[in-house]
Amino acid sequence: MFDTFLEGQQVLVLGGTSGLGLATAVLAVRAGARVHVGGRDPQRLAEALAVLGPTASGACVDLADESSVHVFFAPFALVDHLVVCAANNLPARLIDGELAALRASLDSRFWGAVHALRAVGPRLAPQGSVLLTSGMVSQRPRPGMAMVAAAASAVESLARSLVTELAPRRINVINPGPMQTPLLARALGGRAEALQGLAEMQPLKRLGQAEDFAQTALFAMGNRQLNGAVLHLDGGARWV
Ligand SMILES: NC(=O)c1ccc[n+]([C@@H]2O[C@H](COP(=O)([O-])OP(=O)(O)OC[C@H]3O[C@@H](n4cnc5c(N)ncnc54)[C@H](OP(=O)(O)O)[C@@H]3O)[C@@H](O)[C@H]2O)c1
Repeated sequence: MFDTFLEGQQVLVLGGTSGLGLATAVLAVRAGARVHVGGRDPQRLAEALAVLGPTASGACVDLADESSVHVFFAPFALVDHLVVCAANNLPARLIDGELAALRASLDSRFWGAVHALRAVGPRLAPQGSVLLTSGMVSQRPRPGMAMVAAAASAVESLARSLVTELAPRRINVINPGPMQTPLLARALGGRAEALQGLAEMQPLKRLGQAEDFAQTALFAMGNRQLNGAVLHLDGGARWV
């Protein structure tokens, strides 16, 4: 679908060792990019690199840790596209939940994005782009998810606010609804019938697939007019 429009370009995917980020990395490799992925777990990284093949590379990184993020970016003088797919969402009630759990979403999704943006800033090509990830919870909050929702809303605001500062480079956000990834499987206790039940509740009677996200991510990299946008990838679920 995307041919080889990323030929020779450097794409970095934080959270590129699983789920939405890995599918994006796979499609970017297919489109000709040199892809470098990051995640915390070395085993997951090794498995992802086996999937991505010899043109891809990767390193361990914790997005919540600024120094780790700087080490991750250090080998790259020029980055064409940065995709940030990593976040640690720990559901917790705001009033009486553990403070560490409440901080986790902001530390990873929001501060993680800030760390990545500061690291990529001097390296981002003039026609380059950044893509952040939020989540439908920002618009359809649920009990115990206030901080997760706030972090998702915060990165959307961050992207809008950075349009001028980053120009002529672009920044966009994908806001996914339920997507069939290892994260969702874990959240549903690995029960196939729970995944099926959730799919039945969706307007399109299907869960989003990681490939749906990857297609949207490559569209955002390639479309030179898309900037400051939040792309809702939820099959219409936020309206029902
Ligand atoms: N799947 C859904 O239904 C859904 C819906 C809405 C939003 N989202 C958002 O979409 C993003 C990707 O989700 P996914 O479903 O693809 O999850 P996933 O399959 O669990 O993948 C998450 C990726 O991020 C990495 N990661 C997590 N925390 C990290 C950290 N602190 N530093 C660096 N890397 C980190 C993971 O590797 P390590 O664990 O090894 O670090 C992994 O590569 C997340 O931000 C998620 O909140 C997902």
